[in-house]
Amino acid sequence: MPSLNDIRSTFLDFFARNGHTVVPSSPLVPRNDPTLMFTNSGMVQFKDCFTGAETRDYVRATSAQKCVRAGGKHNDLDNVGYTARHHTFFEMLGNFSFGDYFKEQAIPLAWELLTKDFDIPKDRLLVTVYHTDDEAANIWKKVAGLSDDRIIRIPTSDNFWQMGPTGPCGPCTEIFFDHGDKIWGGPPGSADEDGDRFIEIWNLVFMQNEQFADGSMRALDMQSIDTGMGLERIGALLQGKHDNYDTDLMRSLIEASAHATSSDPDGAGKTHHRVIADHLRSTSFLIADGVMPSNDGRGYVLRRIMRRAMRHAHQLGAQDPLMYRLVPALVRQMGAAYPELNRAQALIEETLRQEETKFRQTLDRGLRLLDDELGQLPEGAALSGEAAFKLYDTYGFPLDLTQDALREKGRTVDTDGFDAAMAEQKAKARASWAGSGETKDAAIWFELADKVGVTEFLGYDTEEAEGEVQAIVAGGAEAASATAGQEVQIVLNQTPFYGESGGQVGDAGLLRTATGTAKITDTKRSQGLFIHSATVTEGEIKVGQGAELLVDHDRRMAIQANHSATHLLNEALRRTLGDHVAQRGSLNAPDRLRFDFSHTKGLTAEEIAAVEAEVNEMIRQNGEVVTRVMSPDDARELGAQALFGEKYGDEVRVVSMGRMDASGKGSDGKTYSLELCGGTHVGRLGEVGLFVLLSDTASSAGVRRIEALTGEGALAYLSEQVKRLAEVAALLKAAPADVVERTRALVEERRALSNEVAQLKREAAMSGADEEAKDIGGVRFLSRIVQGVSGKELPALVDEMKAKVGSGAVLLISDTGGKAALAAGVTADLTERLSAVQLVKAAAEALGGKGGGGRADMAQAGASDASKAEDAVKAVEAVLEG
Ligand code: SER
Repeated sequence: MPSLNDIRSTFLDFFARNGHTVVPSSPLVPRNDPTLMFTNSGMVQFKDCFTGAETRDYVRATSAQKCVRAGGKHNDLDNVGYTARHHTFFEMLGNFSFGDYFKEQAIPLAWELLTKDFDIPKDRLLVTVYHTDDEAANIWKKVAGLSDDRIIRIPTSDNFWQMGPTGPCGPCTEIFFDHGDKIWGGPPGSADEDGDRFIEIWNLVFMQNEQFADGSMRALDMQSIDTGMGLERIGALLQGKHDNYDTDLMRSLIEASAHATSSDPDGAGKTHHRVIADHLRSTSFLIADGVMPSNDGRGYVLRRIMRRAMRHAHQLGAQDPLMYRLVPALVRQMGAAYPELNRAQALIEETLRQEETKFRQTLDRGLRLLDDELGQLPEGAALSGEAAFKLYDTYGFPLDLTQDALREKGRTVDTDGFDAAMAEQKAKARASWAGSGETKDAAIWFELADKVGVTEFLGYDTEEAEGEVQAIVAGGAEAASATAGQEVQIVLNQTPFYGESGGQVGDAGLLRTATGTAKITDTKRSQGLFIHSATVTEGEIKVGQGAELLVDHDRRMAIQANHSATHLLNEALRRTLGDHVAQRGSLNAPDRLRFDFSHTKGLTAEEIAAVEAEVNEMIRQNGEVVTRVMSPDDARELGAQALFGEKYGDEVRVVSMGRMDASGKGSDGKTYSLELCGGTHVGRLGEVGLFVLLSDTASSAGVRRIEALTGEGALAYLSEQVKRLAEVAALLKAAPADVVERTRALVEERRALSNEVAQLKREAAMSGADEEAKDIGGVRFLSRIVQGVSGKELPALVDEMKAKVGSGAVLLISDTGGKAALAAGVTADLTERLSAVQLVKAAAEALGGKGGGGRADMAQAGASDASKAEDAVKAVEAVLEG
């Protein structure tokens, strides 16, 4: 029986054999479409190839694409675990032609793979075609010999595939497998088509049109092919199963879950194991592609899936975090086909473990509250919106988790009530924020925003503009004017000054009215207002005046060079370290940049060098930086789900920079970096000048921080290094090129010399030791005062002295530049009645030291004054005399 891994390979090998380039899966967060929440089919990465906007060096491609359908328009989350074929994560196998072959080849290729390589009996297959597509019907008849009743014409959109409201589209033909009359269901198009007997296994789309937002459609210049076959479905079929979760791959994850919870994979917890197996895949792959759990956007979809799985683990009785322990089982199954899983394994495990540990603190109590609430409700009644909101707000239960928990009990939630409770909380939060003492300063911006409306930002296009002074705030209160020497905040109806956000610091510059001048030192934002921190330097500034606004050009240039370099750095890190690299924070100041990103370990010297080289290469290529702007409405029309809950402001800005080919060099028309960003950027990458990576440090668990310089700052830094090198070379009397060798030789020489000096000191310390031993109180006592022997060398010398006296006590005092290091020893035969600790303490005390410690046969101490060493010897002699 072929495994899912075998089937994936058979598919890709078949199309590779037929002239297709095997293209790796693109990341789950689409790089070429900021409006799509997650990649949800194989054609997403190729969408511009169909319209002709992008060309690649191949015209036939095949891929196994990782897909997630959760949280957006295509949302299968609710059904996962309860049905045979719903997944939040699945793989789509596909073959693609970009203006190369069309139907007359796509259909025979599909038929050959299914009936020869996959060996599916021909009489179990039937197809649908778009009702007007005689051509496709004829090809099927000719190639597969299918009778007319097994080529079903469908007049609906089921057989006209569209990527979304806009984009490439065309009629399609779908291939169905008949599981036989043991299972209820009718053929496609029949009244019973929703039954489980006839299962769609492959969709071949004949891309030939492009749909536009105004409803019009054009014929594309070229005719293309886009096919999609779910690996889990074809896997179930080829493994003789009816349920995708019975395939080898899914089964192994289910068994890992059962094993880790010591439960029966097919027992009462069956659904829980299925949900966990599915959610383990989607969460791990999302984290590997840089998504982190958060409270909005993609991160919240991830968090919802994670928490949902965690409740199911809880239902299985798992006492400890479970999900992260299943990651190795997933990596074993899928790591070979998707190496990003291996690379990000530590990050996936850490993220799951942290989220699980945190959520467990409230999960138990939340579920108890849910039970209590249900206990008070009449039979079958829906849970109140308020209770669901409390679970959300206090216990971190996403609404769908509560719905999922209720589903098991045949109950629902009053979702309108939930929405109302949410709206009420937002209103309250705003009211209390505006009124609270600690934010009194900020509350004024609420009021002002209501009064004057938001500031229009002009600074994407210009650094000089005029605006009208709408408000002046001095000491937290509105003022009508400000005079020379005053520090105030100024709001205008429009401004070219960038207000700090998205890691980019605010602009500085100059403001001039007919009566006065002010220096702008910083610009921030609140409630849509741009707030200029200003020091009035001359005359008077008055509300209602027109003002000339001049951004400090050099400073802005330096800031945006850093910002553009941050985008390049982000991409270079991803390409060097893997797709799990995601921005976690940044700072773009005039003099430096800082970039925080998800990654568990420090970068190696090679990785740092590779990242630095790649960023500099993009700078030298001097590619264009292009910003495209869409209103949220336009973006919503394109596929709004990406914007839901994400805070992008009034416009969505998509910044793309640089071009690359597969090796990162040259140019084949592909964009190097593409990010949603509200910041300002250089026009061409050459303006960044130079990039120097200064440091890579740990910022917090799983997050690294890189600091770097660009432009003049980077050059100044490098010049300083060169200057220092020249100084060192002069000192060493060597050419700069020989400095490393010369320094290494010096270090080695120094090591050898200091060993020699230490040896000499020891020898000097020990010379003549025999003669100086005295008999005091019946004990042979030997003392030595030496110069410059360090404390750590004393014990070895004490041992030697002890060997020389044979039986007795020894004291060694070393003058280490004024201070004293002391050690005393007592031979083993005398330790019963005499302790080296006592001796060394007495000696140290005589030298102004306190304490000392060790064992009866050897003890050490330090003291501040070595000049009275003779007194210390006498103090020990006094002890020995008793
Ligand atoms: N794009 C089509 C689908 O998703 C075929 O790949 O079904």
